[in-house]
Formats: sequence, structure tokens, C-alpha cells
Amino acid sequence: MEPYTIDRSSNWRREAVEQWLFGLDLVSPAMRADIVTAWVSSWASSPYETLAGMPFTPDAPDYPLMSHVNDVTRAGIDLAHRAATDWGATVDPEVLVPILILHDLDKPLLYVRNGDTAGYSKLAEELPHGVVGAMMLKELGFAHSVVSTVATHATNAPFHGRGFEAYVLYYADLFAADHALMACGKVPFYRRRKS
Ligand SMILES: [Fe+2]
Ligand SMILES: [Fe+2]
Repeated sequence: MEPYTIDRSSNWRREAVEQWLFGLDLVSPAMRADIVTAWVSSWASSPYETLAGMPFTPDAPDYPLMSHVNDVTRAGIDLAHRAATDWGATVDPEVLVPILILHDLDKPLLYVRNGDTAGYSKLAEELPHGVVGAMMLKELGFAHSVVSTVATHATNAPFHGRGFEAYVLYYADLFAADHALMACGKVPFYRRRKS
């Protein structure tokens, strides 16, 4: 069975995704439509009835994925603005914004809820986080820079990309992830001891 299907139709899901996502007004109408289709496809292929039911991670299932995604987009846009103002970095919103909004696109397909806890789906034993999202983005026709950055963004990926967007995503994601972990009483990445 295919792990996901591309869904360009579900109008009620499109509306909910458009209302949820921060940053859609920063990209072109065509990019906005592709970003919404990507999230609608992940949601429609997942076991979740609502966006609010999707967990950020099995370690912190009470933090909603929908909050984390907007946390990362806002933090990433702030960091990119800082880098452009202070260091002369060139920011292309048509590359940065989809990477920020879509970096965790595959989580609804990889995590499953069991009552108050969450665990991993069968698909999570077949492909790593980031790679499934990248496959979906490739199928949807996103640029290689978006596909490759999402594919390699996970903290346990073998390496991260060299692009400016990969650098911004790394710090925005960890900053936001640590907030989510601390909000759930978990040890954040920045305080983990080396063993
Ligand atoms: Fe991630
Ligand atoms: Fe993330």
C-alpha cells in the first residue's frame, strides 16, 4: 500500500490548513497553493481527524505539531531577517518559507496516537523523518533546494545541507523544539549531557 496520496481536492481541509499556517502571505499564490496541497495530502493520508490532534513528537505528544510548525516559521523568518540586516544575507522567501512551513510535513504519517501517549507508525520503520516529506515534495514539483533541505533536516540525519535555508531551519527548528520539550517537562536538546 502506498504510504500517502496527493490530495488536491479536500476543500474543507484546504480551508483549515490556510487558516492554520503562518507565512502563506509571504509567498506567491502558486507557491501558497502548493504548500497547502502538501499539508492537505499529509493530513488526508494520516490517521488524524483534526490538525490539532497531531503530536509534535512521541516524546512530547501534548505539544501540537500545528503549534510547532508556526513556531518554526516565525523563528526562521526572524533569524533570516537578522542575517539579512546584519550580515547581508540574501533571503529568497520562495525557498525559505516553504522549507520552514513544510519541514515536518511527514510527521502525521510517522507518529500515531495511543490514548494519551504517542508512538511510531509502520512507515517510520521503513523510512526516516524528513525523507518521506521530501518524497511528497518531489512528487508535488517543489524545487530541489526545498526537497533536499527537508530530506536532511532531522536532528539525526547523517548531515545537513550547506544552503542558507538549511542553516536557518536548523536553529529555528531546535529553538522551537526545545520550547515544546520544556513545555512538556522534557529535557531540551541544549541541556542534554554528552554520554
Ligand atoms: Fe523535523
Ligand atoms: Fe520541526
